[in-house]
Amino acid sequence: MKNFFLTAYTDLLHTTARLTVLGARERACTDYVSPMRGASVSTVDVDFLSMQRAYELAHDDYDAMPEDKIPALAATAIQWLQRSVAVRDHGTAWATANQAEQAIMAKFGDLLGAPDQRFQDPNDDDAFAWFCSQSVIAHRLTRVDGGYRIDLSFLRGYELRDGAEALGSDAYFDDALRPLRIEGFRGATIRPGDADWGMAKYHFRCSAALAATIVDHAIYAHLATANSMVVSTRRMLDVDHPLRRLLAPFQLKTIGINELASVTLIGEGAMVHRLTGLTWRGLDALYHDAERQARFETLPELVARNGTAHLPWAQDAIEIWNALEHFASRYLALYMDEELSDPSVLAWWRSFASRFGSPMTEIRTRTELARVVTIMMWVVTGWHRHIAIPDDLARSPEWFAYYLPAGTQSVRAMWPSREKTMLNMLLVALTSPRGPKITQDFSQYMLDAPARACVKTLHAELSAAGARIAERNLARAYPLRVFEPQSIEISIST
Ligand SMILES: [Fe+2]
Repeated sequence: MKNFFLTAYTDLLHTTARLTVLGARERACTDYVSPMRGASVSTVDVDFLSMQRAYELAHDDYDAMPEDKIPALAATAIQWLQRSVAVRDHGTAWATANQAEQAIMAKFGDLLGAPDQRFQDPNDDDAFAWFCSQSVIAHRLTRVDGGYRIDLSFLRGYELRDGAEALGSDAYFDDALRPLRIEGFRGATIRPGDADWGMAKYHFRCSAALAATIVDHAIYAHLATANSMVVSTRRMLDVDHPLRRLLAPFQLKTIGINELASVTLIGEGAMVHRLTGLTWRGLDALYHDAERQARFETLPELVARNGTAHLPWAQDAIEIWNALEHFASRYLALYMDEELSDPSVLAWWRSFASRFGSPMTEIRTRTELARVVTIMMWVVTGWHRHIAIPDDLARSPEWFAYYLPAGTQSVRAMWPSREKTMLNMLLVALTSPRGPKITQDFSQYMLDAPARACVKTLHAELSAAGARIAERNLARAYPLRVFEPQSIEISIST
């Protein structure tokens, strides 16, 4: 049965996006200038993200380009529709994956590049191993006795709409990353060769997409880290403060995209709610848990915790991390002693820490400051690039859905409906990287020649990192392109 509302809703959002964020030329860092004296930021409270404290979302960006704002009338109409029309999951089925891809390309083809990685059969074990170790969930792969594991069982605890299947299971792999079993698929352990093995893998990929999109992308990257950084930096530091100048390029377009997300993506009745099988109460609980459990940790800490430093994802990610860490350390040493004494820096950190969901300790030294600044820069650059679902995976219903109907008996029956496929592709198109890149010159923000030299050194280090990644890719069965520096945005702009 056709889902007329979902089609009309997708078309409305698509048209609005084409007239705004998707319609403009790609911006470069050099399109922006350093902020005017006194430039700060206002905030609006987001009720559903507020817990013991109000969640303050940054509002009105002095850096905004015309395409960054959706017109107030369109925002009001979209919010009214989302709240007024009940969330329903019915829809029509695709005849073939090819038919789906043709329909997707007809609507979104001009926004999509050539695919990075094509698999003959996205549901075979090689594709599954690639997905789990190199794609959006690779940061959750953890070393265990006899191999590796990704634990997504936590997703099982959230309230679902009638007719939806619960997501959340654990996947296990051997030392060579070949899949061994999936635990928790419909209460059972499923192994390669079992009748339900294909369905268990599909179900796991759906869980992975949900965890990456909601927990690691929307909440951790956009709302906990980037929004807190924007608000604390613009409120607590003067426009000529060296720390404000350092972080300014890492905030381009962030306020606009977060406001757009708060209207069209994450609220009640918005895209995420309609794409997943969660009730609003279930989704709201997942948001709050994601915020509370967010770890403000370094990439080396994450990789050490996971025991995966030797794997391709970590090898490439560390390249970007190291370049950012060197940049932050070198830059801060130009302006600060090891013992921090500047009250505005301490106030900036307290403001950030009070906004981030989980508790954090005081910082007292420049080394500690460089650590937290590098985490922020990493989350809005390399991390954000990594956890955005690549459009390759959304081109076909064979990879994943955010919603699974309960009781399916075949992988084909688990595919998203036509209507949800198109809405999902719009979400992916909206989040595909098209903002200013980290490899572009941003030295206009720097206060003096030594700081501008730091930017040059960062770019030289990123270029060397890119060459090493390209070299490693020659020897890999599946090249990993997500950390190619020239494709990494400098800020959360999508
Ligand atoms: Fe994003």
